[in-house]
This record gives sequence, C-alpha cells and structure tokens, in this order.
Amino acid sequence: MKKKPAVTSKKLYLSLSLLAIVALASCKFKEQEAKYNHSFKPGKIWVDTDSLHINAHGGGILYYDNTYYWFGEFKTAGPDGNSAQVGVSCYSSTDLYNWENEGIVLPVSNEAGSDIEKGSVIERPKVIYNEKTGKFVMWFHLELKGQGYGAARTALAVSDNAVGPYTFVKSLRPNAQQWPMDYSQELRTKAYDPELKWWTPSWYKAIDQGMFLQRDFEGGQMSRDMQLFVDDDGKAYHIHSSEDNLTLHISELTDDFQGFTGRYTRIFPAGHNEAPALFKKDDIYYLMASGCTGWEPNEARMFEARSIWGPWDSLGNPCVGEDAHLTFHSQSTYILPVQGKEDAFIYMGDRWTPENPIDGRYIWLPIQFDESGKPVVNWYDEWNLSIFDN
Ligand code: GAL
Repeated sequence: MKKKPAVTSKKLYLSLSLLAIVALASCKFKEQEAKYNHSFKPGKIWVDTDSLHINAHGGGILYYDNTYYWFGEFKTAGPDGNSAQVGVSCYSSTDLYNWENEGIVLPVSNEAGSDIEKGSVIERPKVIYNEKTGKFVMWFHLELKGQGYGAARTALAVSDNAVGPYTFVKSLRPNAQQWPMDYSQELRTKAYDPELKWWTPSWYKAIDQGMFLQRDFEGGQMSRDMQLFVDDDGKAYHIHSSEDNLTLHISELTDDFQGFTGRYTRIFPAGHNEAPALFKKDDIYYLMASGCTGWEPNEARMFEARSIWGPWDSLGNPCVGEDAHLTFHSQSTYILPVQGKEDAFIYMGDRWTPENPIDGRYIWLPIQFDESGKPVVNWYDEWNLSIFDN
C-alpha cells in the first residue's frame, strides 16, 4: 500500500506562518474597530483617532467643505486647568463620531501683558466662515490674566484656513456708546440709586430698565458666555451674557464678521441666562440657555422667536426625564445642525469637572420635536444618527 505523503516541514512552516498572519491581521482589525466610534455615548470618555480623550470644552462646530471642525477650550489637569494654559484646540470629522486632532489652532501668548497671555481665561471659542472675505473668524470669551472674571470681554482671531493657525486681532467690550434697539429715550437718562440692594424688587426693576446697560454705555457692554450664529441671509450674530450675566444680548456683526455694527437687542433682562446656543428650524429661532451657577449644572431653558430681534417667548425646560432639572448634569455650549438630514439637531453640552478640568465630559443628545413642534431633549446612554431617520 502506498503511504500518504508526510507533511513536509516546509509545508508546515508555510501553514503556520499563514495562520499567524491571519491572526495578527484580525487582532489589528479588532484593535482598530475598538478605536472606531459608531455611536455617541454621552458622559463617557470620548477618544479621538489617537485614542486620547477629546480636549475641546465649551466648544462649537463649523461645517466647511464636507467636514465638521470642532473648536474648544483645551483644558489641563489640576487647579489651573480652567485658565488658558495652552489655547484653543480643533478636531475634524466627517461622521461626527470619529475626530482627528488638528492641534492647537490659537496658542496662548508667552508675552507678558498680551490679552491672551498664558493664564488668561479663554472660553467658548466659536468659528464661522465668511464667504466674502474667505476668512475663518473666531470669537471667544476672554478674561484678562489676574482679573478673575472682571474683564468680561469678547475677542477676535482670524485665519485663512479652518484648522488655523489663527492670528489674535483684538479684544473688546461690544457696542460702546450704542443703545440697544427699542430702548426708549426716557430710560437712557433715567437716574438710579447707586445703593440699591441686589435681588430686591426695586433692583430687579432697575436692571430691567437698564441700570447696568447705562453703567457700561461708555466703555462697552460686558460679554461672557457666547455663541455665534450665521443666518440664511449670510448675516452673523454674536449672542452673549451681558450686564453681569443678568441679561442676554444679541448683536449684529459687520459684513466681514470682524466687528459689531452697533445694532443689538437685550433679551430677558434680569433673566440670568448663560451658555446661549441658538439654532433655526422652519424659520423659527430657538435659543437654549442655562441659569448661572458657575461650573455646577442647573435647569436649562428654551426660548423661541420669529425674528432674531424678538419678541422672544419662553418655552421652559426642554429636557425631560430623570435629571432633566440639571440638564443631565451638563450645560449647553452649541446646537449643531446635522448635514444631509432634515430637522436633525444635536444638543452639545459640557459636564464640567472643575477639580480636574481635563476630565470634563461631553453630553451630546438629539433634539427631538414634540407634537406641538416644541424642541425636547431626552437622555440616551448610547445613540447614533439613525435616530433622526424615524
Ligand atoms: C459658567 C460658564 C462657564 C465658565 C464658568 C466659570 O457659568 O458657563 O463658561 O465661565 O461659569 O465659573
């Protein structure tokens, strides 16, 4: 009988090598798969394509040339981590789940006395693209080094590229020597008792009538938490907490987006609204905001208007379910229209961790609309963009 040929050592070697290659490739694939995000997991560590937790807090998103660019505050570890030690960061993505680190696009300055000196406060950077000038325009909340939150300025940086580098241009308090629209002649000259006690009914009335507006008339209005919004007609607006965070201002930007035209309106005087995030759907403007409790979360509120200049109506808290009264332990920073999907908007919020700011988490949730058309935000442990297809 003919003997079966024995497996030669060469053949064995080849088969084993092949097996090893297949095993290695599948490990590599699994590793890559693990790094690849297919969904949003609010509150969990969110890694970029280098497997590092995304560092872009108080952020906003620019959509340009089929790509999303996420700009935010680059936070560091430890007690100084909420002041600007590094600068503004940027990440890019085409699917919203996976983000590539584009680096620091506006670094802090090492020059003593510079507005954006290391140790200043740089918060809530937002970037918009100006079609006419071809420039990318960034505005952000700036507090000068060593002055706590007293400076209350907005600041401008500009670039020829989405991913920078951005050049710092100026910082200012907006609308100096300008009265808001619809602010009566009579109120402009009204005198107030400088000793008025805070939080008393007569003090509230004075704030409503513009006591702080008058106080800051010469040097410009305070500007802290802020957002930018470009309307369908190409006009851009700067929305910011003003008057000691008591009143929101919406200001029109110049055609190049690099200055203020002087047209502005006050909304909800003495309403104590911060963290503004404005979006538009079916010709209605929606504005989400938080109350003022620093890094601690509070109850969000939503407003709506048919014109950006108002009148604005209150819709109450858009969040529903458990922890809705704390905005699911987050604070609004931006509302992102999803490209290529109808009526698809994402609530972007920050879950701050002031004791170790670098660990701050992102709470992204879909905005849904109830039967009456009112925007609502529900919690999901995990979700993806297909939620908008239903
Ligand atoms: C929050 C504000 C943050 C940051 C913080 C500082 O109210 O939204 O952006 O300024 O206060 O305490």
